[in-house]
Amino acid sequence: MEYTTLGDTGLEVSRICLGCMSFGDSDWRPWVLDPEDGEEIIERAIDLGINFFDTANMYSNGESERVLGDALEGRRDESVVATKCYFQMDDEDPNSGGLSRKAIEQELENSLDRLGMDTIDLYQIHRWDDDTPIEETLRALDDAVRREKVRYLGASSMWAHQFADALHTSERLGLDRFVSMQNHYNLVYREEEREMLPLCQKEGVGVMPWSPLARGYLTRPHEDIDATKRGETEEHMYRHPYREGGGDEINERVKELAADRGVTMAQISLSWLLHQDWVDAPIVGTTSVEHLEDAVEALEIDLSSGDLAYLEEPYEPVRVSGHE
Ligand SMILES: NC(=O)c1ccc[n+]([C@@H]2O[C@H](COP(=O)([O-])OP(=O)(O)OC[C@H]3O[C@@H](n4cnc5c(N)ncnc54)[C@H](OP(=O)(O)O)[C@@H]3O)[C@@H](O)[C@H]2O)c1
Repeated sequence: MEYTTLGDTGLEVSRICLGCMSFGDSDWRPWVLDPEDGEEIIERAIDLGINFFDTANMYSNGESERVLGDALEGRRDESVVATKCYFQMDDEDPNSGGLSRKAIEQELENSLDRLGMDTIDLYQIHRWDDDTPIEETLRALDDAVRREKVRYLGASSMWAHQFADALHTSERLGLDRFVSMQNHYNLVYREEEREMLPLCQKEGVGVMPWSPLARGYLTRPHEDIDATKRGETEEHMYRHPYREGGGDEINERVKELAADRGVTMAQISLSWLLHQDWVDAPIVGTTSVEHLEDAVEALEIDLSSGDLAYLEEPYEPVRVSGHE
Protein backbone atom coordinates (compact mmCIF):
# COMPACT_ATOMS: atom_id res chain seq x y z
CA MET A 1 0.00 0.00 0.00
CA GLU A 2 1.07 3.56 -0.66
CA TYR A 3 0.44 6.22 1.95
CA THR A 4 0.33 9.99 1.67
CA THR A 5 -0.25 12.82 4.07
CA LEU A 6 -3.74 14.30 3.80
CA GLY A 7 -3.26 17.80 2.41
CA ASP A 8 -0.95 19.87 4.60
CA THR A 9 -1.58 17.75 7.70
CA GLY A 10 0.82 15.09 9.00
CA LEU A 11 -1.96 12.49 8.93
CA GLU A 12 -0.86 9.44 6.93
CA VAL A 13 -3.65 7.91 4.86
CA SER A 14 -3.65 5.05 2.37
CA ARG A 15 -3.95 6.24 -1.23
CA ILE A 16 -7.16 4.22 -1.47
CA CYS A 17 -9.87 5.19 0.98
CA LEU A 18 -12.62 2.59 1.46
CA GLY A 19 -16.10 4.09 1.10
CA CYS A 20 -18.58 2.50 3.49
CA MET A 21 -21.80 3.72 1.86
CA SER A 22 -22.30 0.18 0.51
CA PHE A 23 -22.37 -1.41 3.98
CA GLY A 24 -25.22 -1.42 6.46
CA ASP A 25 -28.76 -2.29 5.52
CA SER A 26 -30.24 -3.31 2.17
CA ASP A 27 -33.56 -1.76 3.22
CA TRP A 28 -31.86 1.60 2.74
CA ARG A 29 -30.69 0.86 -0.84
CA PRO A 30 -31.03 -2.55 -2.54
CA TRP A 31 -27.31 -2.72 -3.39
CA VAL A 32 -26.12 -2.25 0.20
CA LEU A 33 -24.48 -5.25 1.91
CA ASP A 34 -25.69 -6.50 5.26
CA PRO A 35 -23.28 -6.12 8.22
CA GLU A 36 -21.47 -9.46 8.03
CA ASP A 37 -20.57 -9.07 4.34
CA GLY A 38 -19.59 -5.46 4.86
CA GLU A 39 -17.26 -6.41 7.71
CA GLU A 40 -15.59 -9.01 5.51
CA ILE A 41 -14.69 -6.32 2.97
CA ILE A 42 -13.40 -3.98 5.66
CA GLU A 43 -11.25 -6.80 7.05
CA ARG A 44 -9.77 -7.52 3.62
CA ALA A 45 -9.11 -3.79 3.19
CA ILE A 46 -7.12 -3.80 6.43
CA ASP A 47 -5.12 -6.84 5.21
CA LEU A 48 -4.33 -4.91 2.03
CA GLY A 49 -2.97 -1.98 4.06
CA ILE A 50 -5.95 0.36 3.69
CA ASN A 51 -6.14 2.51 6.83
CA PHE A 52 -8.57 5.18 5.60
CA PHE A 53 -12.35 4.66 5.86
CA ASP A 54 -15.17 7.02 4.94
CA THR A 55 -18.74 6.80 6.19
CA ALA A 56 -21.58 9.20 7.12
CA ASN A 57 -24.34 9.36 9.70
CA MET A 58 -26.94 9.06 6.92
CA TYR A 59 -25.60 5.90 5.22
CA SER A 60 -28.16 3.19 5.99
CA ASN A 61 -29.46 5.61 8.63
CA GLY A 62 -26.41 5.04 10.83
CA GLU A 63 -25.91 1.32 10.18
CA SER A 64 -22.82 1.96 8.06
CA GLU A 65 -21.11 3.61 11.05
CA ARG A 66 -22.05 0.61 13.21
CA VAL A 67 -20.56 -1.84 10.70
CA LEU A 68 -17.34 0.17 10.46
CA GLY A 69 -17.05 0.53 14.23
CA ASP A 70 -17.57 -3.21 14.75
CA ALA A 71 -15.06 -4.15 12.06
CA LEU A 72 -12.40 -1.86 13.52
CA GLU A 73 -12.85 -3.00 17.11
CA GLY A 74 -9.43 -3.70 18.59
CA ARG A 75 -7.61 -1.88 15.77
CA ARG A 76 -8.91 1.62 16.24
CA ASP A 77 -5.51 3.30 16.58
CA GLU A 78 -4.22 1.98 13.24
CA SER A 79 -7.17 3.34 11.29
CA VAL A 80 -8.23 6.79 10.11
CA VAL A 81 -11.99 7.11 10.45
CA ALA A 82 -13.90 9.77 8.55
CA THR A 83 -17.61 10.44 8.92
CA LYS A 84 -20.01 13.27 8.09
CA CYS A 85 -23.09 15.14 9.15
CA TYR A 86 -25.60 17.46 7.47
CA PHE A 87 -28.47 15.45 5.98
CA GLN A 88 -31.59 15.25 8.13
CA MET A 89 -31.68 11.98 10.09
CA ASP A 90 -35.25 12.15 11.39
CA ASP A 91 -38.02 13.47 9.15
CA GLU A 92 -39.89 14.71 12.18
CA ASP A 93 -36.94 16.60 13.69
CA PRO A 94 -35.52 19.52 11.71
CA ASN A 95 -32.62 19.78 14.18
CA SER A 96 -31.37 16.32 13.20
CA GLY A 97 -29.96 17.86 10.02
CA GLY A 98 -28.15 20.98 8.88
CA LEU A 99 -25.06 22.52 10.44
CA SER A 100 -26.33 24.44 13.46
CA ARG A 101 -24.43 24.02 16.73
CA LYS A 102 -27.27 21.85 18.06
CA ALA A 103 -27.36 19.59 15.01
CA ILE A 104 -23.58 19.18 14.89
CA GLU A 105 -23.19 18.45 18.60
CA GLN A 106 -26.04 15.94 18.67
CA GLU A 107 -25.12 14.20 15.43
CA LEU A 108 -21.48 13.98 16.48
CA GLU A 109 -22.49 12.24 19.72
CA ASN A 110 -24.74 9.85 17.77
CA SER A 111 -21.92 9.02 15.35
CA LEU A 112 -19.42 8.40 18.17
CA ASP A 113 -21.94 6.16 19.85
CA ARG A 114 -22.62 4.09 16.71
CA LEU A 115 -18.91 3.87 15.87
CA GLY A 116 -18.15 2.89 19.47
CA MET A 117 -15.26 5.36 19.51
CA ASP A 118 -14.18 8.31 21.68
CA THR A 119 -12.83 10.34 18.77
CA ILE A 120 -13.43 10.70 15.05
CA ASP A 121 -10.29 11.34 13.02
CA LEU A 122 -11.91 13.40 10.27
CA TYR A 123 -15.33 14.97 10.82
CA GLN A 124 -16.79 16.36 7.61
CA ILE A 125 -19.71 18.57 6.71
CA HIS A 126 -21.58 16.66 4.00
CA ARG A 127 -22.91 19.83 2.30
CA TRP A 128 -23.14 23.60 2.85
CA ASP A 129 -26.03 24.80 5.01
CA ASP A 130 -27.62 28.01 3.69
CA ASP A 131 -29.66 28.37 6.88
CA THR A 132 -26.78 28.51 9.36
CA PRO A 133 -24.11 31.22 9.47
CA ILE A 134 -20.76 29.62 8.66
CA GLU A 135 -19.32 31.20 11.85
CA GLU A 136 -21.73 29.14 13.99
CA THR A 137 -20.82 25.93 12.15
CA LEU A 138 -17.08 26.58 12.39
CA ARG A 139 -17.22 27.46 16.09
CA ALA A 140 -19.19 24.28 16.86
CA LEU A 141 -16.67 22.20 14.88
CA ASP A 142 -13.70 23.90 16.52
CA ASP A 143 -15.21 23.23 19.95
CA ALA A 144 -15.51 19.54 19.01
CA VAL A 145 -11.77 19.52 18.30
CA ARG A 146 -11.01 21.26 21.63
CA ARG A 147 -13.20 18.68 23.42
CA GLU A 148 -11.12 15.92 21.74
CA LYS A 149 -14.18 14.43 20.04
CA VAL A 150 -12.70 15.16 16.63
CA ARG A 151 -9.13 15.38 15.38
CA TYR A 152 -9.44 17.02 11.96
CA LEU A 153 -12.22 18.82 10.11
CA GLY A 154 -13.22 18.25 6.51
CA ALA A 155 -15.85 19.37 4.01
CA SER A 156 -17.69 17.82 1.10
CA SER A 157 -19.31 19.04 -2.10
CA MET A 158 -20.13 22.75 -2.26
CA TRP A 159 -19.27 25.73 -4.45
CA ALA A 160 -15.65 26.85 -4.36
CA HIS A 161 -16.68 30.36 -3.24
CA GLN A 162 -18.38 28.81 -0.19
CA PHE A 163 -15.32 26.74 0.65
CA ALA A 164 -13.05 29.78 0.27
CA ASP A 165 -15.39 31.69 2.59
CA ALA A 166 -15.18 28.89 5.21
CA LEU A 167 -11.38 28.72 5.03
CA HIS A 168 -11.01 32.49 5.39
CA THR A 169 -13.57 32.68 8.18
CA SER A 170 -11.68 30.06 10.20
CA GLU A 171 -8.50 32.04 9.79
CA ARG A 172 -10.18 35.31 10.73
CA LEU A 173 -11.65 33.78 13.89
CA GLY A 174 -8.55 31.74 14.81
CA LEU A 175 -10.44 28.44 14.52
CA ASP A 176 -9.33 25.05 13.21
CA ARG A 177 -9.95 24.93 9.50
CA PHE A 178 -11.02 22.30 7.01
CA VAL A 179 -8.06 20.14 6.00
CA SER A 180 -9.83 18.10 3.32
CA MET A 181 -12.37 18.30 0.51
CA GLN A 182 -14.44 15.29 -0.45
CA ASN A 183 -15.83 16.15 -3.87
CA HIS A 184 -17.36 14.58 -6.95
CA TYR A 185 -14.51 13.92 -9.38
CA ASN A 186 -13.77 11.23 -11.94
CA LEU A 187 -12.83 10.83 -15.61
CA VAL A 188 -16.39 11.61 -16.77
CA TYR A 189 -17.11 14.41 -14.27
CA ARG A 190 -14.31 17.00 -14.18
CA GLU A 191 -16.06 20.28 -13.47
CA GLU A 192 -14.16 20.48 -10.15
CA GLU A 193 -11.00 21.25 -12.14
CA ARG A 194 -12.30 24.75 -12.81
CA GLU A 195 -12.37 26.23 -9.30
CA MET A 196 -12.45 23.76 -6.41
CA LEU A 197 -9.33 21.72 -7.14
CA PRO A 198 -7.04 24.72 -7.82
CA LEU A 199 -8.36 26.26 -4.58
CA CYS A 200 -7.57 23.09 -2.64
CA GLN A 201 -4.10 22.95 -4.14
CA LYS A 202 -3.37 26.58 -3.29
CA GLU A 203 -4.69 26.18 0.28
CA GLY A 204 -2.97 22.85 1.01
CA VAL A 205 -6.30 21.07 1.39
CA GLY A 206 -6.29 17.29 0.87
CA VAL A 207 -8.59 15.91 -1.84
CA MET A 208 -10.53 12.64 -1.52
CA PRO A 209 -12.91 12.30 -4.49
CA TRP A 210 -16.22 10.46 -4.12
CA SER A 211 -17.66 8.18 -6.81
CA PRO A 212 -14.20 7.90 -8.42
CA LEU A 213 -15.55 5.19 -10.72
CA ALA A 214 -18.67 7.20 -11.58
CA ARG A 215 -20.75 4.78 -9.52
CA GLY A 216 -19.68 1.89 -11.72
CA TYR A 217 -20.13 3.62 -15.10
CA LEU A 218 -16.34 3.60 -15.59
CA THR A 219 -15.94 -0.08 -14.70
CA ARG A 220 -17.74 -1.74 -17.61
CA PRO A 221 -18.78 -0.98 -21.20
CA HIS A 222 -21.51 1.64 -21.24
CA GLU A 223 -23.92 -0.76 -22.95
CA ASP A 224 -23.70 -2.96 -19.82
CA ILE A 225 -24.39 -0.29 -17.27
CA ASP A 226 -27.49 -2.11 -16.00
CA ALA A 227 -25.59 -5.36 -15.54
CA THR A 228 -25.26 -5.04 -11.75
CA LYS A 229 -27.86 -4.52 -9.05
CA ARG A 230 -26.54 -1.03 -8.39
CA GLY A 231 -26.42 -0.16 -12.08
CA GLU A 232 -29.97 -1.33 -12.44
CA THR A 233 -31.43 0.28 -9.34
CA GLU A 234 -29.48 3.44 -8.63
CA GLU A 235 -31.17 6.62 -9.72
CA HIS A 236 -27.93 8.65 -9.30
CA MET A 237 -26.39 6.85 -12.22
CA TYR A 238 -28.85 8.64 -14.42
CA ARG A 239 -29.03 11.88 -12.45
CA HIS A 240 -25.32 12.56 -12.80
CA PRO A 241 -24.26 13.69 -16.27
CA TYR A 242 -21.85 10.83 -16.91
CA ARG A 243 -23.22 10.06 -20.36
CA GLU A 244 -23.22 13.69 -21.43
CA GLY A 245 -20.10 15.56 -22.52
CA GLY A 246 -18.34 12.68 -24.24
CA GLY A 247 -18.86 10.08 -21.49
CA ASP A 248 -19.55 7.14 -23.78
CA GLU A 249 -16.48 7.90 -25.90
CA ILE A 250 -14.34 8.11 -22.75
CA ASN A 251 -15.84 4.81 -21.56
CA GLU A 252 -14.81 3.20 -24.87
CA ARG A 253 -11.28 4.57 -24.58
CA VAL A 254 -11.00 3.21 -21.03
CA LYS A 255 -12.08 -0.18 -22.36
CA GLU A 256 -9.55 -0.03 -25.20
CA LEU A 257 -6.64 0.95 -22.95
CA ALA A 258 -7.62 -1.70 -20.40
CA ALA A 259 -7.57 -4.38 -23.11
CA ASP A 260 -4.16 -3.15 -24.40
CA ARG A 261 -2.67 -3.24 -20.91
CA GLY A 262 -4.37 -6.46 -19.81
CA VAL A 263 -6.01 -4.77 -16.81
CA THR A 264 -9.61 -3.94 -15.90
CA MET A 265 -11.54 -0.81 -16.83
CA ALA A 266 -11.88 0.04 -13.14
CA GLN A 267 -8.09 -0.02 -12.80
CA ILE A 268 -7.53 2.33 -15.74
CA SER A 269 -10.20 4.74 -14.46
CA LEU A 270 -8.81 4.73 -10.94
CA SER A 271 -5.26 5.03 -12.18
CA TRP A 272 -6.21 8.17 -14.14
CA LEU A 273 -7.46 9.70 -10.88
CA LEU A 274 -4.39 8.59 -8.93
CA HIS A 275 -2.23 10.36 -11.54
CA GLN A 276 -3.90 13.73 -10.84
CA ASP A 277 -1.56 15.69 -8.56
CA TRP A 278 -4.34 17.23 -6.52
CA VAL A 279 -5.82 13.87 -5.53
CA ASP A 280 -4.70 12.30 -2.24
CA ALA A 281 -7.03 9.31 -1.96
CA PRO A 282 -10.08 8.36 -4.04
CA ILE A 283 -12.92 6.88 -1.96
CA VAL A 284 -13.73 3.57 -3.64
CA GLY A 285 -17.11 1.93 -3.07
CA THR A 286 -17.43 -1.79 -3.60
CA THR A 287 -19.47 -4.78 -2.51
CA SER A 288 -16.88 -7.33 -3.60
CA VAL A 289 -13.52 -8.43 -2.22
CA GLU A 290 -12.24 -9.04 -5.77
CA HIS A 291 -13.11 -5.50 -6.81
CA LEU A 292 -11.39 -4.14 -3.74
CA GLU A 293 -8.23 -6.07 -4.60
CA ASP A 294 -8.53 -4.79 -8.16
CA ALA A 295 -8.70 -1.21 -6.90
CA VAL A 296 -5.58 -1.64 -4.79
CA GLU A 297 -3.67 -3.09 -7.74
CA ALA A 298 -4.48 0.07 -9.72
CA LEU A 299 -1.77 1.78 -7.65
CA GLU A 300 0.81 -0.16 -9.65
CA ILE A 301 -0.39 1.01 -13.07
CA ASP A 302 1.70 3.66 -14.77
CA LEU A 303 -0.09 5.79 -17.37
CA SER A 304 2.01 7.88 -19.77
CA SER A 305 1.15 11.51 -20.47
CA GLY A 306 -0.08 10.26 -23.88
CA ASP A 307 -2.43 7.76 -22.18
CA LEU A 308 -3.77 10.44 -19.85
CA ALA A 309 -4.37 12.85 -22.75
CA TYR A 310 -6.09 10.12 -24.79
CA LEU A 311 -8.50 9.38 -21.94
CA GLU A 312 -9.20 13.06 -21.29
CA GLU A 313 -9.62 14.26 -24.85
CA PRO A 314 -13.34 13.52 -25.46
CA TYR A 315 -14.46 15.30 -22.27
CA GLU A 316 -16.76 18.26 -22.72
CA PRO A 317 -18.07 20.49 -19.90
CA VAL A 318 -21.27 19.26 -18.27
CA ARG A 319 -23.75 20.68 -15.77
CA VAL A 320 -22.59 20.85 -12.16
CA SER A 321 -23.55 17.74 -10.25
CA GLY A 322 -23.07 16.70 -6.64
CA HIS A 323 -24.06 19.86 -4.77
CA GLU A 324 -26.62 21.29 -7.17
N1 LIG B 1 -19.69 13.13 -0.01
C1 LIG B 1 -20.64 12.70 -0.79
O1 LIG B 1 -21.58 13.40 -1.08
C2 LIG B 1 -20.55 11.30 -1.33
C3 LIG B 1 -21.41 10.90 -2.37
C4 LIG B 1 -21.27 9.59 -2.85
C5 LIG B 1 -20.32 8.72 -2.31
N2 LIG B 1 -19.52 9.15 -1.28
C6 LIG B 1 -18.46 8.28 -0.71
O2 LIG B 1 -17.72 7.73 -1.77
C7 LIG B 1 -17.72 6.31 -1.68
C8 LIG B 1 -17.70 5.70 -3.06
O3 LIG B 1 -18.82 6.13 -3.78
P1 LIG B 1 -19.49 5.24 -4.88
O4 LIG B 1 -19.78 3.90 -4.33
O5 LIG B 1 -20.60 6.04 -5.46
O6 LIG B 1 -18.29 5.20 -5.91
P2 LIG B 1 -17.58 4.37 -7.00
O7 LIG B 1 -16.43 3.73 -6.35
O8 LIG B 1 -17.37 5.35 -8.09
O9 LIG B 1 -18.62 3.30 -7.56
C9 LIG B 1 -18.93 2.13 -6.94
C10 LIG B 1 -19.44 1.18 -7.99
O10 LIG B 1 -18.34 0.76 -8.81
C11 LIG B 1 -18.26 -0.62 -8.82
N3 LIG B 1 -16.85 -1.04 -8.70
C12 LIG B 1 -15.95 -0.64 -7.78
N4 LIG B 1 -14.76 -1.22 -8.00
C13 LIG B 1 -14.92 -2.00 -9.07
C14 LIG B 1 -14.07 -2.88 -9.79
N5 LIG B 1 -12.80 -3.03 -9.43
N6 LIG B 1 -14.56 -3.53 -10.86
C15 LIG B 1 -15.85 -3.39 -11.22
N7 LIG B 1 -16.71 -2.59 -10.58
C16 LIG B 1 -16.25 -1.91 -9.52
C17 LIG B 1 -19.01 -1.12 -7.61
O11 LIG B 1 -19.56 -2.39 -7.91
P3 LIG B 1 -19.35 -3.59 -6.88
O12 LIG B 1 -20.12 -3.22 -5.69
O13 LIG B 1 -19.90 -4.75 -7.64
O14 LIG B 1 -17.88 -3.69 -6.63
C18 LIG B 1 -20.07 -0.05 -7.42
O15 LIG B 1 -21.23 -0.36 -8.16
C19 LIG B 1 -18.96 5.98 -0.86
O16 LIG B 1 -18.87 4.72 -0.23
C20 LIG B 1 -18.98 7.12 0.12
O17 LIG B 1 -18.08 6.84 1.18
C21 LIG B 1 -19.63 10.42 -0.80
